Amino acid sequence: MNVVALAAQRIGGSFVAEVSGVDLARDMVAAWDAIHAAYLEHKILIFHDQDLSAKRFHDFGERFGTIEPHTVVMYHHNELPGITVLSNRVEMGRPKGIRDAGSHWHSDYSYKAIPANVTMLYALEVPNEGGDTKFIDLAAAYRALPDAIKQRLEGLTALHHYRRTKEREHPEGRWQLLTETERAATPEVVHPIVRTHPETGEKSLFVFPGITSGIQHIHGLAKAESDALLMELYAHCTEPRFQFTYKWNAGDLVLWDNRCTMHHATTDVLPADQYRTLYRINTKGTEPI
Ligand code: SIN
Repeated sequence: MNVVALAAQRIGGSFVAEVSGVDLARDMVAAWDAIHAAYLEHKILIFHDQDLSAKRFHDFGERFGTIEPHTVVMYHHNELPGITVLSNRVEMGRPKGIRDAGSHWHSDYSYKAIPANVTMLYALEVPNEGGDTKFIDLAAAYRALPDAIKQRLEGLTALHHYRRTKEREHPEGRWQLLTETERAATPEVVHPIVRTHPETGEKSLFVFPGITSGIQHIHGLAKAESDALLMELYAHCTEPRFQFTYKWNAGDLVLWDNRCTMHHATTDVLPADQYRTLYRINTKGTEPI
C-alpha cells in the first residue's frame, strides 16, 4: 500500500491545522497514520474540497472509534444512523436535521459517562454569511492558569447533565426535546475538572459553560463557591487568546478532539433565506481521567 504524505499547516495560535494533499475518498487508509498523528498534534484538522458519499464519511468516522449515534433519534441520517444531520432546511413540514446543534460552548457528549473523542463535520451546503464554528484550546487554557488555581483544581470533579438548562425556554433546550427513553438514557454523570489526554498525556480543562445542557456544579463544594469557581474558569478559558473561528466552505471536512477542546456553533442566527446542511459523526472515547 502506498503511504500518502500530507501537509498540516498550523493556522490557530496554539491549535488547528489545515491539511492539504489528501483526497479522503481515495486516501483515507493510506494517509491514516499521518492523519491520526496530525489530529493529536493540532487537535483540530480542516480538509478542503472533499467529495464524500455518506457511506465514505461514515467509513472515515469508523477509523477513529465506535460511532455513537446522536441522543435525539429524529436527527439521524435515514440510512446511516451513526450520521447526524445538521440543517436549517424543512422538508414536507419536517426539519431535515438539527437546526442548532449547540450555539454555546460545549464538548460533545460530555454529559455521558463515556464522552466523545472525535467529532467530524462534513459541509454539504453553507450560507454566504453566518454559521461559523468557534473553537477553544482547553489544554492551552489549562497551561495558562496560575499554579495556585491548578493546585486548587487537583482532584475536583463536576456533575454534568444533559438536561441542565440555564434557559428553560431556549428552543433547543434538551429539557424540551427528549422522549422518556432518551431521558432515561441521559442520567447525571461525574467527570474530573482537569482531564488528562489518554493518548498524549496532556492536561486540559474539562469545563463547559453551555446554556442548554452541561455542568450543574462542582462536587463537594457549596453552591456559591462552586458557581464562583466555575465562572472564574469560564471567563479564563473563553478569553480570545484561546479561540479560533472557522468560516465554512461546501466540501470542507473539519474534525476535532473533544478531549481537549470545546466548540460553539453560531446557527442560532442564520440568514432566513440561506441553507446550511452538514453531516456529523461522533465516536466514543474513554472514561475521562
Ligand atoms: C456542534 O456543536 O456539534 C455543531 C457545530 C456547528 O454546527 O457549527
